Amino acid sequence: MCAKPRVLVARRVPPAVAARAQDEFDVVLADVDMDADAVIRTTTEHASQAVFSGPKVRLTAANIPNLPQSVRIIANPSAGFDHMDVEAARKHGLIVTNTPAVLTDCTADLAFLLILAACRRLSEYGAIMREGWRKPFGMPDNLGLRASGRTLGIVGMGRIGQAVARRARGFDMHVLYHDRAPLPADRSQGAEFVARLEDLLPRCEILSLHLPGGDGTLMTREAFALLPRGAVFVNTARGSLVDEDALIEALQSGRLFAAGLDVYRREPDFDLRLAALPNVLLTPHVASATVETRDAMGFLALDNIAAVLAGRPPITPV
Ligand code: 8YV
Repeated sequence: MCAKPRVLVARRVPPAVAARAQDEFDVVLADVDMDADAVIRTTTEHASQAVFSGPKVRLTAANIPNLPQSVRIIANPSAGFDHMDVEAARKHGLIVTNTPAVLTDCTADLAFLLILAACRRLSEYGAIMREGWRKPFGMPDNLGLRASGRTLGIVGMGRIGQAVARRARGFDMHVLYHDRAPLPADRSQGAEFVARLEDLLPRCEILSLHLPGGDGTLMTREAFALLPRGAVFVNTARGSLVDEDALIEALQSGRLFAAGLDVYRREPDFDLRLAALPNVLLTPHVASATVETRDAMGFLALDNIAAVLAGRPPITPV
């Protein structure tokens, strides 16, 4: 009988994913989420052939050469891979994979939840109820914004952007999108392409970001200033896309009516000034955090490892 392939699972994973990894591989299962140093140490001791990675495993051009020669694939159980230097890994002969598609629906669900919640002041209403309510509201008090029928701007019309646009159709929204090029009609969900970001922003009553991080700050002070007064801003993509000082100013000045945020420039030690603002609904980077999606992400990462270690091409290379 052949020896099982040797795999390091460098982060805590859901039970079904752990069980499958133990069944198929000679596996080291981390009981705390490892950083790059721990991964280098453990893969060297174990002679691992694959790493099931994670956002804490910051593999850089400087530390990638310290991985043992036995490692052939870095499988990221995430759509994003901005936590590692993919070019340096490739140069070192490593295959890098991610898990697109399986988290599309849950990420779009959370984006839509934040859109609705920000328009309808969910964060403030929740706080009022937890404090016991008691004081009646009059007809003009604490009003939110009608979400149905509003104009939604999507920046980044990949799988997740398209899934958000599909949900928006059910809310009779007018959907605009900006990306490098227009999509074919069968994928654009009836949304209107706007070639320049500067032309999109002034038309967005709601703006939702769906592009990868790593290419700098998209939402600068100037970009926020282009939004119409009273816009709603939602980010389930990456915190690095946003100048958070500018975001806070926009929320304080009324340029933004409200924001819904799942991602931050620093995580988990995010800027607490955001938490002090009543008109922000905050979630702790959980867009993919459902039982079904986290299992699917884990299984796809394991499928990539199994394929590569059996000499087949990776399923979802980056
Ligand atoms: C988280 C995500 O990274 O897939 C991504 O890019 O941002 C999320 O799914 C998740 O915590 C996986 O590590």
